[in-house]
Amino acid sequence: MATVVLGSQWGDEGKGKLVDILCEDVEVCARCAGGNNAGHTIVVNGVSYDFHMLPSGLVNPKCLNLIGTGTVVHIPSFFAELEAIQKKGIDSTDRIFISDRAHLVFDLHQLVDGLEEIELGAQNIGTTRKGIGPTYSTKAARSGVRVYEIFNWSEFEKKLRALEHGYKKRFGDLLQYDVEKELAQFKVYYETLRPYVIDAVPFIAAAFKANKKVLVEGANALMLDIDYGTYPYVTSSNTGVGGVITGLAISPFNIKNIIGVVKAYTTRVGSGPFPTEQLNEAGEHLQVVGREWGVTTGRKRRCGWLDLVIVKYSTAVNHYTSLNLTKLDILDGLKELQIAVAYKVDGVELESFPADLNTLAKVEPVYKTMPGWTEPTTKLTEYDQLPKEAKEYIAFIEEFIGVRVDWVGVGPGREHMLYRQR
Ligand code: GDP
Ligand code: IMO
Ligand code: MG
Repeated sequence: MATVVLGSQWGDEGKGKLVDILCEDVEVCARCAGGNNAGHTIVVNGVSYDFHMLPSGLVNPKCLNLIGTGTVVHIPSFFAELEAIQKKGIDSTDRIFISDRAHLVFDLHQLVDGLEEIELGAQNIGTTRKGIGPTYSTKAARSGVRVYEIFNWSEFEKKLRALEHGYKKRFGDLLQYDVEKELAQFKVYYETLRPYVIDAVPFIAAAFKANKKVLVEGANALMLDIDYGTYPYVTSSNTGVGGVITGLAISPFNIKNIIGVVKAYTTRVGSGPFPTEQLNEAGEHLQVVGREWGVTTGRKRRCGWLDLVIVKYSTAVNHYTSLNLTKLDILDGLKELQIAVAYKVDGVELESFPADLNTLAKVEPVYKTMPGWTEPTTKLTEYDQLPKEAKEYIAFIEEFIGVRVDWVGVGPGREHMLYRQR
């Protein structure tokens, strides 16, 4: 059976930490979509690990890890990340695999990502510039290159040159790219990548046949989903539960739990509407105390109050069976807490989350005000020890969303997770 962990807001909810905790008794951990635009920080015994492309299940030495078909992979970054975790003592030998059907992110795509952002000017998406959008674009245009094609050199070379040719026509001298250099790099990967590449369809089928416990690590988050997010200020893949099915060829009937990870407030990196954003002292508190800097780009994350209109919409799309509320400790000491429970435009309440970004940009959140708590929560070890007001905050979320909060994060470490007995 599979458990799926998904981001319910705009990313960086703390998915990696939950994945690491759940992986203690998981046998296969898989990424289904996205690329190294993701960034997950995991803290184990005071040591901090950053994962981008690699599944966070690698921290558990018994867990096999798959980079699935729906992902896009920048091979130099894959090797660099493996080396970085190796240096911190994680041995990945024979435990990490890449689907041969995943698409390759070239340096070329990364350069194009930057050029497209410049082209957009003030309307830029604020991408991570990891080449994610251009790679999914070439995939959809059927001119992309898949991982297995590295092993058919003449075809591979032809395809990369064709991609370069197309982009050169579009960007001219703005594109400063050396195709020979990238080809030379791939000549090396022709040998070094071979042991990692597998056909992921029988791999996944065999895992379920053997009744293995499978965990799917969602990357990015629902509000960044290409179909359901705040388009065009989104990433270029299906980051929700749909991406799990297409990206890994898992039977929907084999999914037992879908855990939505919800930060106790809201953050967003990059551009786009953000109804509960707080450009004031409260926002400053969340940014500084929450240490809200992106792990992939180092950018400051925009911060605001918890927006339950979004979490409810996200639940309608992803069908969470339980929630992990994270970073509750960051709210410690705040006198009053605000939670958005509806949106109004020109005084009229909207019935659902709007598709139209012009409407979203105009909404005024309707807030429910709740009392805060003064006691620090990070040292707590049991759910029941939480201050009364914190429990009320959680109860309100559960009631509003209609899904139980099974885990509460009160600090960055593995030990800072309160599991709530059923
Ligand atoms: P992900 O992309 O969803 O995996 O999340 P990130 O790792 O990008 O961002 C979450 C950050 O918050 C990381 O630095 C985590 O170490 C940290 N974190 C996760 N859960 C908690 C929590 O409950 N409390 C605190 N204080 N930090 C947390
Ligand atoms: P994790 O897995 C936060 C955002 C980028 C940008 C938009 C498009 O750590 O939660 P892209 O490079 O994907 O084309 O950028 O999506 N974005 C994320 N923001 N966390 C992430 O992943 C993100 N992945 C993409 O900031 O606004
Ligand atoms: Mg992150």
